[in-house]
Amino acid sequence: MGIIYHEKHKTITLHTKNSSYQMKIGNLDYLLHLYYGPSICDADMSYQIMQYDRGFSGNPYESRNSRTFSLDAQPQEFSTQQQGDFRTSSIEVVNADGSYSFHGKVSDYKITKGKYKLDTLPCVFANADDTADSLEITLSDTVSKVDVVLLYSVYEEADIITRAAKVKNNGSESIHLKKIMSVCLDFLNGSDMDILSLPGRYGQERQVERQHMTHHIHTIGSVRGSSSHQQNPFVVLCDKDTDEDFGKCYGFSLMYSGNFLAEAELDQYDQLRLVMGIHPKQFVYEVKPSETFEGPEVVMAFSEHGFTGLTHLYHNFYRTNLCKSKYVSQIQRPVLINSWEAAFMDFDDVKLVEIAKAAKNMGVDLLVMDDGWFGKRDDDNSGLGDWVVNEDKIKCGLHKLVEQINQLGMKFGIWFEPEMVSEDSDLYRAHPEWAMQIPGRHAVRSRNQIALDMSRKDVQDYLIRSVNSILDDADIFYVKWDINRSLADIWSNELPAKKQGEVYHRYILGLYRVMDNIIKTHPDILFEGCSGGGGRYDPAMLHYYPQYWVSDNNHPIDRLKLHYGTSFVYPVSTMGAHISDSGKFVPLKTKAVVAMCGTFGYELDATHLTDEEQAVCREQSDLFRKYYPIIFEGDYYRLSNPFEPGNMTAWQHVTKDKKESLLSVVVTNLTCNGPQEYVKAKGLKPQTMYDVNDGELTLSGNALMNAGLPIPREVDEYTAFQFYMREV
Ligand code: GLA
Repeated sequence: MGIIYHEKHKTITLHTKNSSYQMKIGNLDYLLHLYYGPSICDADMSYQIMQYDRGFSGNPYESRNSRTFSLDAQPQEFSTQQQGDFRTSSIEVVNADGSYSFHGKVSDYKITKGKYKLDTLPCVFANADDTADSLEITLSDTVSKVDVVLLYSVYEEADIITRAAKVKNNGSESIHLKKIMSVCLDFLNGSDMDILSLPGRYGQERQVERQHMTHHIHTIGSVRGSSSHQQNPFVVLCDKDTDEDFGKCYGFSLMYSGNFLAEAELDQYDQLRLVMGIHPKQFVYEVKPSETFEGPEVVMAFSEHGFTGLTHLYHNFYRTNLCKSKYVSQIQRPVLINSWEAAFMDFDDVKLVEIAKAAKNMGVDLLVMDDGWFGKRDDDNSGLGDWVVNEDKIKCGLHKLVEQINQLGMKFGIWFEPEMVSEDSDLYRAHPEWAMQIPGRHAVRSRNQIALDMSRKDVQDYLIRSVNSILDDADIFYVKWDINRSLADIWSNELPAKKQGEVYHRYILGLYRVMDNIIKTHPDILFEGCSGGGGRYDPAMLHYYPQYWVSDNNHPIDRLKLHYGTSFVYPVSTMGAHISDSGKFVPLKTKAVVAMCGTFGYELDATHLTDEEQAVCREQSDLFRKYYPIIFEGDYYRLSNPFEPGNMTAWQHVTKDKKESLLSVVVTNLTCNGPQEYVKAKGLKPQTMYDVNDGELTLSGNALMNAGLPIPREVDEYTAFQFYMREV
């Protein structure tokens, strides 16, 4: 059993293969946090807790004259509200009587087999061969009659612990939640720790930043209505000397696609607290008597083996326990070509067939018809919401178009942006009340489109109906689901004034309902997520879609950073990566090598390529298919950091049995008469001999990992190399 309650010590310990997590029902039944780190067997970690008079700190009333127990100084499992803990709270609730307080003490706990589920939000799941156990521990406030139920699941083999929190109103009047965090993790000493996050912007998502913890609250979050380009719901806390290969690190990955917040506070005693959950901005959620509010899940991992160790834990787990699409593992993903950068909205059926024919020569399997095929959509001022084929462009009709593509031996894919509406659309003319706009005010314009109020059931039903009817009309193999603006003007015409603080979250719940319905009724369709590139690339989205468009920025040299940052938590198999015209001075082959660090495809007008270029593409598409199992199922290693000065960027994929590996290098910065560069492999078997590039060299794993491979000199800028290694 991965979860053990120790009666004598009143500790509950969660064990994974290599880590332990311990809490204790402590003084006055407050739930204290004792430990998260390398396995501790059955040790009782209470000895670390020192209780002494800290001066100026609050003590619970029941402690009477004893001043040694203060929640302001104790590590807690879930930091509460107005109990003398002045650090970051995990909950803010306004009780029925108007008081702002939650005094939660342990009233119950339950250990069960299997993985807990949330009714309203996506979660990771357990497969038949997983050992997963769950803990539910209830903190009750006997005055307000509010319970917080903390949920934990332990995946022993995977070294993963998940957490979530629910709030139950057992009283007879409504309460209002203003903040509810899914995780709270207290470290007794965090002064030597760093925080790493993945900030970015449009076209430059998930860049990597690392900061040393200082005595203030480091906040990372999004208030854009989506998990955003600007931040990602993933943070790492690590020792200050942790690097790729060595050192302790803790990952926190939030399964939520809306506003989120992570707060890391180093307190007066150098204790470190991390909380993470839904962002409290404009969040006031009514919980009626006997109702329960669920917060999203956080997936936690701990590694002693640096960022690579942490990455492997997330990649392995997210590859198998996050998304149920059959394309995750059963079927090789197709090489696709997308019409966007080839034609933008200026295409018709004839142009699409021409692109497909040329792409066929390039070894492409799937043509994707991007934005511009529906309603009146010749530019981005109109048409969104009208999910009917524009037969002025697709003159032969969708059905016939798909048939023509299929006759070429290719599959067909299509683009939607279901959450949005253009003012110039039939949908808006019929239902202006469905758009998110504050009464009496003009909505903020962003790409000239307005968000639909996804919290409304009639909007959700309309989208389910209209998207499904297109998907059922023709043989559609693939869908790209886009969203191209941040949410402003948060308002729902259907909710009363006092419930407008629920709209941000209800939007996300509505979105998940729509996605769930459409995806479940089309299990054979491959879905890819997109948000103006990679603006909503989060684990909740990856619960629905097996792949996500990394960025609208296809420049292969920028992509090195984009892939590097994204890879910290998201598997390569989720990373949408294409070759495009972007990067004029970068050879086609280099573009292909970079796009092979992902789902591989093309984003260009194939009819403009010469026969020679098409042949190079064909060769690269074939290579991608050859290396697919290594790239999609192997362990991923970042061999160099493109954010640091250097002459090349390198990465590597190694199969689980370590028999095959693909090492890729892009030369980014040549220096005249510079030193000889070597790239050192990782993850191979030290004593095993490997054949490199089909007979070019035969070297032991030790040689490849310690001496490395010399990078040929006198090459053109942006030359790329691939080294395919196979056990002899
Ligand atoms: C977004 C996407 C692009 C493309 C356009 C279409 O920007 O990221 O790939 O689909 O929308 O409008």
